[in-house]
Amino acid sequence: MNKLKIVLVGMGTRGRHWARVITEHPQAELLAATDPSAQAVTTFKEQLPQLDVPVLSFEDALALKPDVVVLSTPPDIHLEQISACAERRISVLCEKPLALDAQTARACVDVAQAAGILLGVGMNFRYLETTRASRQYIQEGKLGQVGFGRIVYWRYRDGQRPLLNKYPLTMDQPMLLEQSIHHLDLARFIYGSEVAKVWARTTNPPWSMYRSDATVAAWLEFDNGIALQYFGTWAGTNAKNEFQWRTDGAEGMLLQNDIFKDLDYWPAGAGHPQAVVLESQEDFIDDTRGLLDDFLKAVRGEVSTYPSGRDHLATLALTLACAESSRQGRTLDLREYAAEIGLA
Ligand SMILES: NC(=O)c1ccc[n+]([C@@H]2O[C@H](COP(=O)([O-])OP(=O)(O)OC[C@H]3O[C@@H](n4cnc5c(N)ncnc54)[C@H](O)[C@@H]3O)[C@@H](O)[C@H]2O)c1
Repeated sequence: MNKLKIVLVGMGTRGRHWARVITEHPQAELLAATDPSAQAVTTFKEQLPQLDVPVLSFEDALALKPDVVVLSTPPDIHLEQISACAERRISVLCEKPLALDAQTARACVDVAQAAGILLGVGMNFRYLETTRASRQYIQEGKLGQVGFGRIVYWRYRDGQRPLLNKYPLTMDQPMLLEQSIHHLDLARFIYGSEVAKVWARTTNPPWSMYRSDATVAAWLEFDNGIALQYFGTWAGTNAKNEFQWRTDGAEGMLLQNDIFKDLDYWPAGAGHPQAVVLESQEDFIDDTRGLLDDFLKAVRGEVSTYPSGRDHLATLALTLACAESSRQGRTLDLREYAAEIGLA
């Protein structure tokens, strides 16, 4: 099978994950990478000395006519870069969020569709073993009728740490748009249903290093009757981080205690859990590998369930609805709100 040719745009922290995943993929070839920051290029070479990737300008890299461009750049330049790829009929796998507002995200999807290119979004957590198993348990009915769930994500994220992107320090709604977007996407994916009603409150504690809200509390009601309570923060006061996702149904309960592993199934009434057997995965690498693999299948015209730009609009509508609900102080009907902002 011919290898698909890939250009990597953005050589920062996430770009380094992508570089490894692409070069280690048996059906991919990393033609070149590009980043205007000399510091990012130097760090990339220091951290990945085993990779001998030509570093070119964006224009020169696209001139190599790759099959796919992976965009690992900040969200405010995604539209410009997707448009440049669309003009050249190059499919794009773009990091999340696709954009920071509804209109720009819609334009990303429209420009890709008009050019007939594929547009995928970096929802790599869909490819975690925990995600796959939870989705299977719920959708195969092992929990019976599911009633409610709760996600708690409690983190001290030192936004000043070297090698960590700095734009979340000053952007609007950093927790929601950079982090909770993954959790909200997973909730749609694992529960296999769209959200009907959204209530949320975003806040920023006095000690937060983020200019805008680093804490999100939400209550979501899904079409299939599941109610989900969500609490996420980047402003925990120390590095005792927590992740827990619990979902209860009439016939059993799922309890996940770590974002990347540790999933238990409790049959109804059981006094002890049954550990769900999961293959071990390297955090951020194997899940990203799953995403790339699935996207490359789509590029080759094979069956794929990659997270598309269009599907991402539903996750983004939900994410933006949380911010809007907090602003308005009331529960929103998600379909009405999505239609209002052009994401229906
Ligand atoms: N899916 C995930 O698990 C995950 C994890 C981390 C980050 N991300 C996402 O990846 C994206 C990048 O995040 P990061 O942490 O790598 O940030 P980063 O700041 O470390 O890297 C971004 C890089 O893009 C470069 N860049 C800026 N303009 C460019 C241009 N015009 N052309 C090429 N490169 C350009 C910057 O110089 C920088 O090196 C963000 O959208 C972020 O949300 C996703």
